[in-house]
Amino acid sequence: MQSNRRNWIKQLGLAAAGMGLGRVTALAEPSDLFKETQEAGLPIKLSSNENPYGPSPLARRAMAEKVNATNRYDWDITTRLIETLSVKNNVRKDNILMAAGSTEVLDLVLRYAANQQGNFVLAYPTYSYWSDTVIRFGLERKIVPLTKEKQVDLPAMLKAINAETRFVYICNPNNPTGTVCERNELLRFVNEASKQTLVIVDEAYIDFTTETSLVSEAVQNKNLVVVRTFSKIYGLAGARVGYMVAHSRTMEKVAAMQSWNNGSITVISAAAAMASLSDTKFVSDTYKLNEKARQYTMDQLKKLNITSIPSSTNFLYFSLDKYKYDYFRRLKDNHISGTGIYEDEGSWTRITIGTLAEMQKFIAAIR
Ligand SMILES: Cc1ncc(COP(=O)(O)O)c(C=O)c1O
Repeated sequence: MQSNRRNWIKQLGLAAAGMGLGRVTALAEPSDLFKETQEAGLPIKLSSNENPYGPSPLARRAMAEKVNATNRYDWDITTRLIETLSVKNNVRKDNILMAAGSTEVLDLVLRYAANQQGNFVLAYPTYSYWSDTVIRFGLERKIVPLTKEKQVDLPAMLKAINAETRFVYICNPNNPTGTVCERNELLRFVNEASKQTLVIVDEAYIDFTTETSLVSEAVQNKNLVVVRTFSKIYGLAGARVGYMVAHSRTMEKVAAMQSWNNGSITVISAAAAMASLSDTKFVSDTYKLNEKARQYTMDQLKKLNITSIPSSTNFLYFSLDKYKYDYFRRLKDNHISGTGIYEDEGSWTRITIGTLAEMQKFIAAIR
């Protein structure tokens, strides 16, 4: 494992050197970004769990350098990206499939899983943007409410699986609640559920936690797929890069759903992803800045008598039940975009953690 990590860092260094990323300076500090937003009268976007500091300086440089190469197909860069990810995750290259964001990855897995009629199981509320597509395929949606603590109810999810279940989706950490499944409980769940159906674990926000990914379990279990993205901690939501990790047999079947395997990533996006993997400072700075801004927001919400759920992510879930003012009017008047109500009972909503300055503006707006 240690030597794998060393190889990975070495490989990243070589890749960065190959891209001419030797001397790179930061392009914008978070405080500059906030000032620019304010001066341009732009809305503060706290709605989509993006990274307010990104893309990383190395990724910006790498993208700019690749613009002139976009007249050519470039198979090599995606191959190098897959090699780098295989070392980082300690899996084989044929355990990885790349696509344009984890949304495309989810689409591919779902197309594979939905080739037989039946149902699928997911929590409520969870990330379910993809689920309407599955319903269009003719599958029935089985919803399992979260626990009172807003945790994914794994025992209830297990009970909901039956002979017609084509897959079960677990978002860990869960969006919109920011809660994480206890690892041993999750492993027990995966073990049991995967005897009956395909288990999809979406780890879009795992880099904001100290949790260990399930990738090493996925490469051994034909009924487990792990989905990852560069849209969150790596700050590349608009670049559209995601990947899945699975057993090579499962991978073959899912890859058959994609006409050009690994072909939907642009040269620019692949360069950005490679450079982002090498920018470990950017990732750790984002992690720390997010923790600080999240703690500030939680503390302030508490002072306003607003209950929030302890979060391991870059967003917070909280109840407007005791809030006395018109929350959505306050956001609108202050040019802040948040999200709507997820659960009517308790009026639960979510806010993305932006920069500290943005969160101060948010708190001032709702105070
Ligand atoms: C849990 C989860 N999975 C997947 C996605 C989609 O991400 P991508 O940009 O990789 O398509 C999101 C986006 O917010 C998300 O919250």
